[in-house]
Amino acid sequence: MKNQNPSQKIAVIGLGYVGLPLALALAKHFPVIGFDVSSARITALGVFEDATNEVEPDELRETSMIFSDQVDDIMACDTFIVTVPTPVDDDNTPNLGAVLSACQTVGSVMKPGAVVVFESTVYPGVTEDVCGPALAAASGLVCGEDFYLGYSPERVNPGDREHTIERITKVVAGQNPVVTKKLLDMYGAVTSGNVFEAKDIKTAEAAKVIENAQRDINIAFINEISMIFNKAGISTKDVLEAANTKWNFLNFTPGLVGGHCIGVDPFYLAHLSRELGHDPEIILAGRRINDGMASFITKSICSNFDEGPKHILVLGLTFKENVPDLRNSKVADLISCLQNAGHRISVHDAFADKDEAKAEYGIELLSDLGLDQAADCVVGAVGHEIYRAFDAATLSALVTPNGVVADLKGIWSDIELGSGLKRWNL
Ligand SMILES: NC(=O)c1ccc[n+]([C@@H]2O[C@H](COP(=O)([O-])OP(=O)(O)OC[C@H]3O[C@@H](n4cnc5c(N)ncnc54)[C@H](O)[C@@H]3O)[C@@H](O)[C@H]2O)c1
Repeated sequence: MKNQNPSQKIAVIGLGYVGLPLALALAKHFPVIGFDVSSARITALGVFEDATNEVEPDELRETSMIFSDQVDDIMACDTFIVTVPTPVDDDNTPNLGAVLSACQTVGSVMKPGAVVVFESTVYPGVTEDVCGPALAAASGLVCGEDFYLGYSPERVNPGDREHTIERITKVVAGQNPVVTKKLLDMYGAVTSGNVFEAKDIKTAEAAKVIENAQRDINIAFINEISMIFNKAGISTKDVLEAANTKWNFLNFTPGLVGGHCIGVDPFYLAHLSRELGHDPEIILAGRRINDGMASFITKSICSNFDEGPKHILVLGLTFKENVPDLRNSKVADLISCLQNAGHRISVHDAFADKDEAKAEYGIELLSDLGLDQAADCVVGAVGHEIYRAFDAATLSALVTPNGVVADLKGIWSDIELGSGLKRWNL
């Protein structure tokens, strides 16, 4: 372990997509305990298995960090970094249950002088106005006098091996200059990118939530023009290729917006907006358009069919390519819409866990692609590498000679289809 600073002992609370890579990176420089409420997760990490596929078994084998589901194990820590989920409820209001439960855990063990940093995505004010009081109540300590708050938004991008925690610019903000300096040093030890000091905690919280809301709105615009151009009989892909030749045209593509970040975080911003008496228009319009894509795609695909139920093979269920993450998958919405339209659906995913797909969506994933059983329509829903790598023969074998190839991600644009096949692109 290089540059280890034994005077600082860090607990990372929540070892998911965000917490695990962060904890492992920190453990190269500081003593770190990774804490998670899920005993199953801790057991799996103990045998060097990471279900998120974000880290290699060797990284788990070689790390000095300790994994634990026991609160007592984090008692000796002085710095706590909270990386627990921040989902929305069914009515799209923020659910801070995991964050508050983490505050309860940390508050029950922290000692005077502790620093508690939040990395979970929230709306501005959650760290100081919600978590600070919760930590104070759980610990009996005074916020800003006995313990201190910090915020550092997380930018990890699952499946992305380039923009890793050790390379990207990390934004930090502390409750006072001493805490900010501590965060600059701590994150500075981990990343070879910059550490940017935001003006204050609310600014850092706001920066994160608008990063994802901005992406959501930009994708919504492209989704809307895709709806228009579909009606006009113009290829959105060809239009974007032409428009992208302008230096300041923003390069977004149409698609389903799932996952637990881009499709969720705008609701956190909208919640704050409403609390403040401002009716958020563009933020929620973007959400509505993106959440309506499953229905639009269903109608468009079905417009290529003649009468009667069809067999449709959907390739990909995860919320993005080359990751096993099934949370908030909008492909599941698309499958429901297609089923409601009376069709029989088979689903294959090269990365997803079969049991999780069954438990989460009631979807029975195919074990392999039955090339002997061609469907009336094949839908390229997620751009997993294995589907991208199809050649004309492999793709044609999956669909009947007069069938439909629905390519949502533009992954088969270069494949010349047999004369009887119809192609539909988003
Ligand atoms: N995954 C991403 O791409 C990404 C990117 C940027 C920001 N974020 C944000 O980071 C946060 C974490 O996201 P994630 O994707 O890592 O979530 P995740 O679901 O992958 O992991 C969260 C982990 O926290 C654990 N946990 C839940 N409640 C806990 C508690 N009270 N105490 C201890 N552990 C607890 C869970 O068991 C799980 O292992 C969220 O706010 C998310 O919006 C995620």
